[in-house]
Amino acid sequence: MIQTNSGLRSLVQSLRPITSSFSEIAAYCCYTSQAASALQQVSRPNSYSEDEYAKVDWDNLGFGITPADYMYTMKCSSDGKFEQGQLAPYGNVDLSPSAAVLNYGQGLYEGTKAYRTEDGRLLLFRLDQNATRMKMGADRLCMACPSIYQFIDAVKQTALANKRWTPPRGKGTLYIRPLLIGSGPILGLAPAPEYTFLIYASPVGNYFKEGLKPLNLYVEDEFHRATRGGAGGVKSITNYAPVLKAMARAKSRGFSDVLYLDSANKRNLEEVSSCNIFLVKGNTISTPATSGTILQGVTRRSIIEIALDHGYQVKERAIPVDELMDADEVFCTGTAVGVAPVGTITYQDRRVEYNVGEEPVSQKLYSILEGIKTGVIEDKKGWTIEI
Ligand SMILES: Cc1ncc(COP(=O)(O)O)c(C=O)c1O
Repeated sequence: MIQTNSGLRSLVQSLRPITSSFSEIAAYCCYTSQAASALQQVSRPNSYSEDEYAKVDWDNLGFGITPADYMYTMKCSSDGKFEQGQLAPYGNVDLSPSAAVLNYGQGLYEGTKAYRTEDGRLLLFRLDQNATRMKMGADRLCMACPSIYQFIDAVKQTALANKRWTPPRGKGTLYIRPLLIGSGPILGLAPAPEYTFLIYASPVGNYFKEGLKPLNLYVEDEFHRATRGGAGGVKSITNYAPVLKAMARAKSRGFSDVLYLDSANKRNLEEVSSCNIFLVKGNTISTPATSGTILQGVTRRSIIEIALDHGYQVKERAIPVDELMDADEVFCTGTAVGVAPVGTITYQDRRVEYNVGEEPVSQKLYSILEGIKTGVIEDKKGWTIEI
């Protein structure tokens, strides 16, 4: 049985910071046992056991989809209330051709990971941040959204059910992808009459084909990722297809990814296609301030907090592109990407190289962050949840 009583107890304990009353916890227990029994109804191969690993070539994981056994689904109709979420085998989703997400892009996604500790346990990281960001996005896109509590519970269930797909420590992580979509049919442009919250998971290794090697970024000054007043600050699915052209062009020229500038003046740095950016100069670490066009990355926030704890000055501010020429070190942050050092940046006809050798700041911060995520460093901040 996947969901044991002690497992349930530890789930409840780990939810304490976000539950305000006994009745919420009781409701949670009732809800979880419903979902757990739904899971038990799903047929599983005889060989399944909680401690087993799936048959995966753990040494050659990239960032491709290798679907884990179970996905989670929860729906809500016009009353805006999500309920009766359940796990089922990973598979296709049944959608009306007139679903709002297909016609008008009313959809959000999140990305988080399950990490194995050295002794095989599973840790999740700052799920409340992802849940809150989905809520902000849902508000921006006029969507109903699961509560923070439901979001966290659903991710935990998905991770636990797919535990055997979580790579051994040091080989990768289980990437978990929550999706919120306007699944109800609509013809005229309006919010969908029904929403579906889905979560699936896949074991992954390094995001970039460069592996852990430094990235070569290209500063894009023709295409933009986001505009003022747009939806760049939330994880709308509509933010991603429009960057593909710039990414494809940069990759065809041998770059790893694209660094975008603000669309109003083409003067200040924004972010990379799927990660935030940091510049290091002496003891000061700077990153573009989030003012609606840049995603408020969970990794970005965590790195800022770790850097402050370790005596760095951190500035969230407007960063003119010219400062790239002057930085000692540059790095990118994201759940998928981790903390990736940048080796070169090309802007117009200039190419700058950065320190990636002796003791880069990014390496130091990355080791601390990974240490917390994988249980090697004591989590004094309450960022991790064990499941
Ligand atoms: C555009 C963009 N910026 C930054 C990030 C990093 O965010 P996080 O650290 O929460 O993964 C992502 C993550 O997917 C992203 O899509």
